[in-house]
Amino acid sequence: MAADISNIDKNKLPSHIAVIMDGNGRWAKMHGKPRVFGHKNGVKSVREVSEAAAELGIKYLTLYAFSTENWSRPAIEIAALMGLLVETIRKEVSTLNENNIKLISIGDISKLPAKSYKALLEGIEKTKNNTGLTLILALNYSSRWEITNTVKKLAHEVKEGRIDPEDINEHLISANLNTATIPDPELLIRTSGEQRISNYLLWQIAYSELYFTNVYWPDFRKTHFYEAIINFQNRERRFGKISEQLSKG
Ligand code: IPE
Ligand code: IPE
Ligand code: MG
Repeated sequence: MAADISNIDKNKLPSHIAVIMDGNGRWAKMHGKPRVFGHKNGVKSVREVSEAAAELGIKYLTLYAFSTENWSRPAIEIAALMGLLVETIRKEVSTLNENNIKLISIGDISKLPAKSYKALLEGIEKTKNNTGLTLILALNYSSRWEITNTVKKLAHEVKEGRIDPEDINEHLISANLNTATIPDPELLIRTSGEQRISNYLLWQIAYSELYFTNVYWPDFRKTHFYEAIINFQNRERRFGKISEQLSKG
């Protein structure tokens, strides 16, 4: 039975959902088409999930769009993905504004092709005053890259005498990641049946609930998104405690 929005408890919504959009290539293959066809069809799922998150009142949605490891793919696929990014951002900006969605990004975006970088910055600029959902695109992102940068940054601060090594704590590390202004995701969804993290938000998902579905990303619809949230809402998040302690807080 398809999951229905009415089964979602609006008082128990995650504030941040992170998604690993996976399975575009296999979806295309299943349809006897080149991989790029899968990426093109994945855009519809991005639209659906962003809209669903905005409608529900979810505050943050992070989508893994391109990992640092994805540079190892065939050049033609990388070019198609980067082109699709430009096209999609340009086409969707007005819809983002209609839905009060603010676009931001994490990752080493300055290394994107100039055209993609420019389109991204334009999208960010044009949606910066929106106050609803924050849509975070992880682009040329990897968690180890992010953590390495943070360590480097803090090492410089220590060297220059601005902080003491003893000042370094979890809070300071979080505050120096790309995601400094974003709460940790309560829920991480990965599509396509793969059950791995692929260098995504390693620090931030320390206590996230993980949800894996066999659905390929281009087939992922609002109802699949609701299903993941309902599944999340039926879990008990214990944070190291035992069940009996939880009601007492
Ligand atoms: C996810 O789908 C999209 C990106 C990584 C950009 P894939 O392209 O990884 O699809 P599969 O995993 O090969 O099916
Ligand atoms: C993870 O998917 C990256 C994105 C979704 C952008 P991949 O398909 O690249 O992951 P692996 O390499 O199979 O783990
Ligand atoms: Mg994949």
